[in-house]
Amino acid sequence: GDVAVLVPAAGAGVRLGPGRPKALRLLGGEPLLVHAVRRLAAAPSVHTIVVAAPAAEVEAVRDLLAPVAPVTVVPGGAERQASVAAALAAVPAGPQIVLVHDAARALTPPDLVESVAAAVRAGHDAVIPVLPVVDTIKEVGADEVVLGTVDRSALRAVQTPQGFRRAVLTAAHAAAGDPLTDDAGLVEKQGVPVSCVPGSEHALKVTRPFDLALAEHLLATGA
Ligand code: CTP
Ligand code: MG
Repeated sequence: GDVAVLVPAAGAGVRLGPGRPKALRLLGGEPLLVHAVRRLAAAPSVHTIVVAAPAAEVEAVRDLLAPVAPVTVVPGGAERQASVAAALAAVPAGPQIVLVHDAARALTPPDLVESVAAAVRAGHDAVIPVLPVVDTIKEVGADEVVLGTVDRSALRAVQTPQGFRRAVLTAAHAAAGDPLTDDAGLVEKQGVPVSCVPGSEHALKVTRPFDLALAEHLLATGA
């Protein structure tokens, strides 16, 4: 494998409701992070995994993941972008492809990891998995009055893993300003083209309780 994967897992999970940090919340009796790391480790391209854990849970996460896969665990930051930067700083010399993958996308198939890595290997500097947007999207003003309807055909919903040539991701994080919600956004600001590959519905991000219920169903039916 020529790929390092950074796994931001340091978020609180406010939208999921009260409880443990989201990456440690249970899905089918195991933490979301365990599901995510197991599927990453099953992708043949993956050589190195670095997890950014909640600062208070670094030792617990090391113990949790030791039987799952060889991983490095570092403390994350206050924003996702800081957690990714902390994990990136811990990648050893070697891998020239770096993927960034949300722990919250716990059921992401190894095939999607491979397809993103393959697109970077084929020469794309930055690659994101995307799905078409299914709902009609409207822009709304502060008073909740519709300003207009956006052309849906030009929109994509963006998932992880996002893949990068290592030097591209490192430069983008070195130049980063205000926190963004994904890494491709930083790369875009550098003027680097970002390419899309087909995403997977199984790569849904567990964000709200409904998502966790859906993930439970998917897991129970073979995901
Ligand atoms: N994340 C992180 N460090 C942070 C915030 C988020 O590593 N300071 C990670 C989360 O653990 C998650 C991924 O980034 O795997 C995507 O973030 P999100 O879905 O927003 O998770 P949370 O921030 O935990 O959820 P919420 O925003 O509802 O609190
Ligand atoms: Mg968040």
